[in-house]
Amino acid sequence: MNSPNAPPPIERVLFTAEQIDARVREVAAQISADFAGRELKLVAVLKGSVFFLTALARHITVPLRVDFLAISHFTNQPGAPGVVRIAKDLDDAIEGEHVLLVEDIVDTGFTTRYLLQNLAGRGPASLGLCTLLDRTSRRIARTPINYSCFEIPDRFVVGFGLDHKQLYRNLDCIAVIRPE
Ligand code: IMP
Ligand code: MG
Repeated sequence: MNSPNAPPPIERVLFTAEQIDARVREVAAQISADFAGRELKLVAVLKGSVFFLTALARHITVPLRVDFLAISHFTNQPGAPGVVRIAKDLDDAIEGEHVLLVEDIVDTGFTTRYLLQNLAGRGPASLGLCTLLDRTSRRIARTPINYSCFEIPDRFVVGFGLDHKQLYRNLDCIAVIRPE
């Protein structure tokens, strides 16, 4: 384990707190315009997406509900896409509601595709996807994204909710970390 006093092994900051804040406000304004006159439910996956959801929610102006689910990944090969299972489900039904799935990052797209299929089966009035980060270079599963804050290169990133071994979620920027 890292020494508790060691600074995070940041190699390069991709987006500063100020850049994230400005972009999140833009996307929130777009969402508010698109859902004008309607109620919206933001659904986020624990734990990484919670940081983005709360930032986004504060700048959305339509009546808003939030709900959360947790997933576990099963994979027998490291780096290979595994099976996703819902470990904690939403508290409430989404039937007839306008739902936006809020993701921290869409990478291969497997997680998001599974979640969108699962949520679509519950009969929402509409279902969209809003992601903080989009790493298109590693996409395998086709994933239509309605709102995306930033596209990123093929490097592992942490901060603003994204972790490495559960650490660095609390960084206010998004950064590439040095390989161990
Ligand atoms: P996907 O199923 O390959 O799209 O992967 C999605 C999940 O992998 C995300 O929700 C993250 O938890 C994790 N992930 C992918 N890339 C990164 C990264 O660069 N940093 C931290 N977590 C990541
Ligand atoms: Mg993670």
